[in-house]
Amino acid sequence: MPVIVVANPKGGVGKSTLSTNLAGYFASRGHAVLLGDIDRQHSARAWLDLRPLQAAPISTWEISEDFIARPPKGTSHVVLDTPAGLHGWRLNDVLKIADKVVVPLQPSLFDILATQDFLRRLADERAVREGQIDVGIVGMRVDARTRSAEQLQRFIDGLQLPLLSHLRNTQNYVQLAAHGLTLWDVAASRVQRDIEQWQPIISWVNGASVAAAHVTTKTATHAAEVSG
Ligand SMILES: Nc1ncnc2c1ncn2[C@@H]1O[C@H](COP(=O)(O)OP(=O)(O)OP(=O)(O)O)[C@@H](O)[C@H]1O
Ligand SMILES: [Mg+2]
Repeated sequence: MPVIVVANPKGGVGKSTLSTNLAGYFASRGHAVLLGDIDRQHSARAWLDLRPLQAAPISTWEISEDFIARPPKGTSHVVLDTPAGLHGWRLNDVLKIADKVVVPLQPSLFDILATQDFLRRLADERAVREGQIDVGIVGMRVDARTRSAEQLQRFIDGLQLPLLSHLRNTQNYVQLAAHGLTLWDVAASRVQRDIEQWQPIISWVNGASVAAAHVTTKTATHAAEVSG
């Protein structure tokens, strides 16, 4: 049962957007997926309340405020949304149960600065160094042709952590979230570019090696550039 944690202590970078879409992806594949939420704002839970009954089911994982237990048995996939400011014992507890950590990161100087220490902390984590936890970064709201995308790439090149994909800035995420939906709940033709950008993330969460996921990223980025 893979536990995928979505984390970045910086606020508003797309953690809940990534978590809900990831859970939506697993649900669309027929997996019994739990979406946990240790965010006091309970964004993921509020989003689940909006989810239509006919959409592929996603269950909630109720987590106590002061203790993060192992997820309940009987599910095949767990996605955990986390709050801004995650650090200290709560971060340690989260890392104890994580198989993968996805870090959304926006290509701005302030976002990069605010995330730097967190990424270093992850890179130094023993379980990460020993390969028990895989960490992957997702560039959020990135236009691949801009200087800030280049800046993000340079920053990430300096870390020992892989950049899985770039997700573009699009109202698709905003509008779908408002209805408790994900990219995987609507006609693929409506969100085709976004689904393409998700492919390397999907390969990675499904256990493909980073190198393989990376090749796909480059192909997807290239395809996006070619199609404009
Ligand atoms: N790729 C994107 N394109 C357009 N809007 C986006 C994208 N990703 C996220 N957003 C929007 O940005 C806002 C912040 O995203 P989100 O709530 O997922 O961030 P968060 O990291 O969970 O925030 P918090 O730290 O407050 O929990 C939301 O309104 C969301 O719809
Ligand atoms: Mg959130």
